[in-house]
Amino acid sequence: MNNAIRATVRVALHYGLEVYGVFDGYKGLVNKDFKKMDRSSVSDIVNRGGTILRSARLPEFKDPKVREIALNNLKEEGIDALIAIGGDGTYQGALELSRKGLMVATLPGTIDNDIPSTDYTIGFDTALNTIVDAIDKVRDTTESHSRCSIIEVMGNKCGDLALYSGVAEGAEIVITPEHRLSDEEVYASLNEMYKKDSNKRAIMVVCEKIYPDIHEFARKIEANTPFVTRANILGYVQRGGTPSPKDRSLAVRMGAYAIRELMDGKGCFAVGIRENKIVSTPIEEALKMTKKPQEDMLKLLEEND
Ligand code: F6P
Repeated sequence: MNNAIRATVRVALHYGLEVYGVFDGYKGLVNKDFKKMDRSSVSDIVNRGGTILRSARLPEFKDPKVREIALNNLKEEGIDALIAIGGDGTYQGALELSRKGLMVATLPGTIDNDIPSTDYTIGFDTALNTIVDAIDKVRDTTESHSRCSIIEVMGNKCGDLALYSGVAEGAEIVITPEHRLSDEEVYASLNEMYKKDSNKRAIMVVCEKIYPDIHEFARKIEANTPFVTRANILGYVQRGGTPSPKDRSLAVRMGAYAIRELMDGKGCFAVGIRENKIVSTPIEEALKMTKKPQEDMLKLLEEND
């Protein structure tokens, strides 16, 4: 996100625009927590995780009266365009603001990769790298102690972090919302593996929010298979750290594109990347899109035995 902020500021200044940073997302719009940005406001942030502008959730932004306060604050400062970085809720808020005449652009910022109008979101690649690095470390004990290791990763309702990390790790079992397995199928697969393989160990990558208690599921596996099983929940580790080069360049490309499009007079669009080309989709349309399952990646899971 910092690279998107940096690119937005630098490109805007390059074209002679005035730029303000809004702290804490829509909360800062409502509380008028703005800061005029110059070149040095965004110096030395390319390698920093998180966001210098911070982030917050504001459910009250669904209320038109609360949005009215935000719009008045923008008007008072003479701000006529807004770039919002985030996921679904951010897009909804941006659409509502645009309906009141504000020019808005959204950038897809979430590790979950769950925004259908783009192939990749800002943050996904960095989180994926962190996950793969963590599983590599978990793998050492898994192998030396002949264990079954479950790694629960984020993704909300989207299985991409689990799917891509599972494929990158050649995980024995991957469970995502798009690739569910019953408990019995998991036991059968592990029992078969135990009989067949000389290496008695297994890596299982699971998307969050599928099992209410992943440690409980580990205990069930122990009761139904010969594997000593442990669950590892990666949690916020996945949301932090130095951004990957791929994420940095994606963020820079998207931020710069948003400024250029706004300068061209476009008013309400979601920036995305498709087939390595930066593109835009009307926000209303973006919100109606559904994410297609990654058939080619899912097929790899079936071929991995
Ligand atoms: O939306 C990103 C995400 O990281 C999800 O994967 C996760 O479920 C959620 O945020 C957790 O966020 P919080 O703990 O802030 O509610």
